[in-house]
Amino acid sequence: ARYFGLIPAAGIGARMGSAIPKQYVNIAGQPMLVHALAAFAQTPMIAHTFVVVSPDDGYVDGALAASALAGRVDLSVLRVGGATRQDSVLHGLRAMREQVGDDDWVLVHDAARPGLDGELIERLIAALKGDEVGGLLALPVVDTLKRADAGQGVAETVPRERLWAAQTPQMFSYGLLRRALEQATDVTDEASAIEALGLVPKLVEGSTRNFKVTLPQDVALAELHLKGQA
Ligand code: CTP
Ligand code: MG
Repeated sequence: ARYFGLIPAAGIGARMGSAIPKQYVNIAGQPMLVHALAAFAQTPMIAHTFVVVSPDDGYVDGALAASALAGRVDLSVLRVGGATRQDSVLHGLRAMREQVGDDDWVLVHDAARPGLDGELIERLIAALKGDEVGGLLALPVVDTLKRADAGQGVAETVPRERLWAAQTPQMFSYGLLRRALEQATDVTDEASAIEALGLVPKLVEGSTRNFKVTLPQDVALAELHLKGQA
């Protein structure tokens, strides 16, 4: 089986509120998307990487051409992004069909996680070698968690024991992932679509540096990580 990257990059970055879509915001000299792509490009085990952007995206060609990756990466841009992250991933999977077999692995990774590196990709692949289902990078939750009532009162404290925060990449075979996402409704990651089939994805320890850049203040922290200062 081969390994493929699939990077959904068709969001608008509403919470970031930047003038250009979040995935193109410059971090340590490169657009966020280029950092995510570079991790796949640096990993010899990855056969090819697919990036899903919105059909009317006016940034991707310029961002890639201006990057150090230009012409060096086995990469396809699929202009099939949808209204939700789940739609973008599913449309990407459909568009990859000709090039990928059911037993090949697909590693789905957010463009908004520029802190991924080749070592984390290799850790995920190594941990899931021979696994029947697949799995994801994740980290044990460190904060004490509160569930709110209808307002901002605390309804309960959620025991932190055994709680993990999901990251990406999330790695499943093409055939299984496609089947899971074709059937899923309202999932925010690939693993939950797999869980809905009654299967058990594995948790593989990720890294704090692989956090998702969501709010404007996240940019500075991502920059420190990428410059090796955090
Ligand atoms: N994404 C996508 N298609 C969508 C929505 C999101 O491909 N319709 C991608 C984003 O580009 C991002 C990843 O999914 O790489 C994670 O989503 P998120 O961090 O929520 O990004 P946005 O949806 O762009 O941000 P926001 O939710 O603040 O609008
Ligand atoms: Mg979003």
